[in-house]
Amino acid sequence: MALIRTHTKTFTDGVVTLRPMTDDDLPLLYRWNADPEFLHFSEGDVDPYTPEEVDSLYQSLSRSADCFIILVEDTPIGECRMQTIRSPFSPLLQSSTDCRRINITIGEPTFWGKEYGSHAIGLLCRFAFENTSCTHLFAEDIFDYNGRARKAFEKNGFKVYSTVPALSDEIPGTVTLFKGGVNKIF
Ligand SMILES: CC(C)(COP(=O)(O)OP(=O)(O)OC[C@H]1O[C@@H](n2cnc3c(N)ncnc32)[C@H](O)[C@@H]1OP(=O)(O)O)[C@@H](O)C(=O)NCCC(=O)NCCS
Repeated sequence: MALIRTHTKTFTDGVVTLRPMTDDDLPLLYRWNADPEFLHFSEGDVDPYTPEEVDSLYQSLSRSADCFIILVEDTPIGECRMQTIRSPFSPLLQSSTDCRRINITIGEPTFWGKEYGSHAIGLLCRFAFENTSCTHLFAEDIFDYNGRARKAFEKNGFKVYSTVPALSDEIPGTVTLFKGGVNKIF
C-alpha cells in the first residue's frame, strides 16, 4: 500500500505546476528534509530528519492534507500542502467559516527568491477560493526571521492574523497570516 495518500488535482499558471505528491517523490523529500539551511526556515533549528522520520511525517500529513510537488518546467523544486483546520474565530463566526491552511517549502535553495513560491501560493489560493467552500486561508507560525516567506504570502493578499513575540535568542517569534472574505473578523 502507498505510504503517501495521493489525489488527482493538478494546477498550473504557466510558470509553476502543482502536481500530486506520490511515494516516488520520497527520495527528494529525504534530501530536502536533511538540509539544515532549508530546515532553519521551515522548521527551525531542528536535527535533519532521517528517511524513516520523513516516511512517517508524510504518511501522516497526507492523511489530512492534499500534498503537491511544485514543478518548474519539469523540475521538482519543492512541495506545498493544503488542509482543512478548525476555525480559530469566535463562536459567532465559527459555523460560517471554512478555514484551511497552506504550507509551502521550496527544497532547492537555488530556486529561492525567483517568485516560484509566490506563484505556487497564488495557485493554491485560486483553487481554495474558486473551487472549494473555503472562506479563510492561513499560513501559520512563520518565523520572524523568515521575511521571504512572509513577503511571498503578503504578495498574495495575506494579512497578519496574530503574532507571538520571540522568547529568547533561541526561541524566535512567529507570525500567522490569513487571507479571507470577511474583512472585519475581530
Ligand atoms: C518561503 C518560500 C516558499 C518563498 O518562495 P520564494 O519563491 O523564495 O519567494 P518569492 O521569490 O516568490 O517571494 C519572496 C519575496 O520576499 C522578498 N524577500 C526576500 N528576502 C526577504 C527578507 N529577508 N525580508 C523581506 N522580504 C524578503 C523578495 O524580494 C520577494 O519579494 P518581491 O518579489 O516583491 O521582491 C521559499 O523561499 C522557501 O521555501 N524557503 C525555505 C523554506 C521556507 O521558508 N518555507 C516557508 C515556511 S513558513
